[in-house]
Amino acid sequence: MIAIACDHAALELKADVIKLLEDRGLAYEDFGTYTADSCHYPIFGARAAQAVASGKCDRGILICGTGIGMSLVANKVKGIRCALCSDSYSARMTRAHNDSNMLAMGARVIGVEVAKEIVAAWLDTPFEGGRHQARIDMITALENGETLE
Ligand code: RB5
Repeated sequence: MIAIACDHAALELKADVIKLLEDRGLAYEDFGTYTADSCHYPIFGARAAQAVASGKCDRGILICGTGIGMSLVANKVKGIRCALCSDSYSARMTRAHNDSNMLAMGARVIGVEVAKEIVAAWLDTPFEGGRHQARIDMITALENGETLE
């Protein structure tokens, strides 16, 4: 199950991404926003991030104007590793090396075709594990208030 959310700046791109998910036969839950009215992105980003953190959803995709606000919100939720991507190389690498469980994009930054490439790369790339797992463990330790050596 993929969580997806956006703010008013990204309604159209969210619809395009949802179409991509549907074309791939992937289940998703849309956490809003649902209208073009100006809204507060933290509300919708947090709903989606908390669904991923709780295990209700496996991964999540967040879109706002720049993707920055949404990524900041998601990364405040314990257990979330949200990567803001504007290119498919970064999307692939953040899955392979960071095991990101959320993807953020900026609807005012990238076009729809680039966004679709990013989402496809992010969905299709597995985590490599190995030496990268130790680094993920450090991120988790930091999140738990530990001091890194
Ligand atoms: C909304 O105007 C804009 O601030 C928001 O979409 C996002 O870019 C915030 O980071």
